[in-house]
Order: sequence, then C-alpha cells, then structure tokens
Amino acid sequence: MALRFVHCSDIHLLDLEGVGAHRFFNKRATGAVNLALHRRKAYAGHLFDRIVENAIELKADRLVVTGDLTNLALEAEFELVRRKFGEAGLPVTVIPGNHDAYTRGAARGRRFESYLSAFMEGERQSGHDYPFVQRFGGVALIGLSTAIATLPLFATGRLGDSQLTRLDAILKELGDERVARVVLIHHPVIPGVAKARHDLLDLDAFMQVIERRGAELILHGHEHVHIEGDLPGPEGAAVVHGIAAGTALSQKPGRHGAFSLYTVAPGSIAREHYTWNGEEFVGGPETTH
Ligand SMILES: [Fe+2]
Ligand SMILES: [Fe+2]
Repeated sequence: MALRFVHCSDIHLLDLEGVGAHRFFNKRATGAVNLALHRRKAYAGHLFDRIVENAIELKADRLVVTGDLTNLALEAEFELVRRKFGEAGLPVTVIPGNHDAYTRGAARGRRFESYLSAFMEGERQSGHDYPFVQRFGGVALIGLSTAIATLPLFATGRLGDSQLTRLDAILKELGDERVARVVLIHHPVIPGVAKARHDLLDLDAFMQVIERRGAELILHGHEHVHIEGDLPGPEGAAVVHGIAAGTALSQKPGRHGAFSLYTVAPGSIAREHYTWNGEEFVGGPETTH
C-alpha cells in the first residue's frame, strides 16, 4: 500500500509573546529577535494553515515537516507549533532544523524533543532520539537531526558519527526488506547547494552512507529554495528534493511558499508540487520516478 503525504519545511512560526529581557540580555540575542521580527514581512504563518487545509483536501495520510518550525527555539514558539500540529486534523511527522536548536539552552534542554515527541513516535535505538523510523507497510519515514547550536551567523548542521552509524544499519535493514526508504533531513545534501556557513558539516560521511546503503527519496529544507538532484546509491540514485519555506510570501522563482504531495510505494514515487501565488497554493502532477 502506498503512503500519501504532504511535505513542507521551514514554516518558522513566530510567537514572541512572553519574551522578556531576562532571556535576551546580550546583543546577539537582541539582534536575533530583531531579525525574527523583520522576517514577519517575508513569511506568513497563515500559509501553514493553508498547507494543512490543502493536505486534507488532497486526502493526504500525513503531513511531514522537515525542520525550522520556529525562529528562536522559544517555549512560546514550540507551544504554538505543538498546538497547530495537534489541531491539524491529520497525523504529523517532524524533524528539527537549526532554528529549533537556536540557543545552547534550547539544544541542551532538548526543548524540541520535549515539546514535539508526539510527532516523532517510531522505532529507535533506546537512548537515542534519532534516527527514528515510522513504518507504513512497505514505506518508511526515517527522521534525522542535524540541529546543533551554532555560533552567531552560522547555520551549520551536523549528524554526528553515532547517528550516521545507526542510519547505516537502518538503511541496510530496510533496504534488505525492499521497503521504500524516505529520509528526512533538514540540511541540503547535494554538494555545493548550501551557502557558506549554512552547510552540513559531515555531508561527506552522509553521502558515503547513501552510496553504501541507498535510499529511495531524501527530503530536506533549510535553504528556502526549490532544489532537485540525486545522490549515488548502490542500486541507482537516491532522489533528493529540497523545498522552499512553506510560509514564504516571496514570488521569486524557486522561492515561493511551497509544499509537495508524494505518493510513495515500493518501486514508485509520484510527486505533485504546489506553490503560493499570493492568494492560494496552485500546482499539480510534476514528476514521476
Ligand atoms: Fe529555515
Ligand atoms: Fe534551517
């Protein structure tokens, strides 16, 4: 049986209610709040509501969001995200992005995981949040985390050796079972795609895992731009799709607010792509692999 799901990313829902001076006592943090307020003009939270409406109209089984749900990884932002997901009317799968581990406090306190664990239920090695595997018959969603707290002006990510080792084993096992493997990761995985200081620090090691074990589809966000490519695998290429920010108001090509509807089954991937035209999401069948 096929899994039909909507993918969106980088919704960056903003809620600065209750942000006090005690939390932002240094210049860096003040700058971050100003940046987040500035973003308000370029991103609109109500587009996420429209994506959810579209997902339900399109009879998607599930909504998949590949990170950057928040701006500053604040409790108030995670509360807003948790409420929106809880009210969505269809099951939601999430992974974190760099903005969801914006501060050391948020990362160390596992704030993302403590608020959103209900949307990351699945099989995982005990003691490790990632990767988690959600299986739907012959299709599996494999959720990774590249979220690390970084220095100011850096938006890099890292999987880490231990997560990569677990991913290697998972991809092998599912591949042996001929399960369609859909890998969810926040950072881009095509070399050269990410801007400087925006990249996945252990991309080479990730590519080696894919080359050795394979995957059928890799979905990411982070660059807020439409990306299509592939990575070499042992039995053919793994399809890679990067999607623009779900809530972007931009009308620049490739940067429109967007979501994709996937129908995945063992041996087949169909995609419909939808973009925001200023009034509604429009699109339809685009590519079939
Ligand atoms: Fe983002
Ligand atoms: Fe990001």
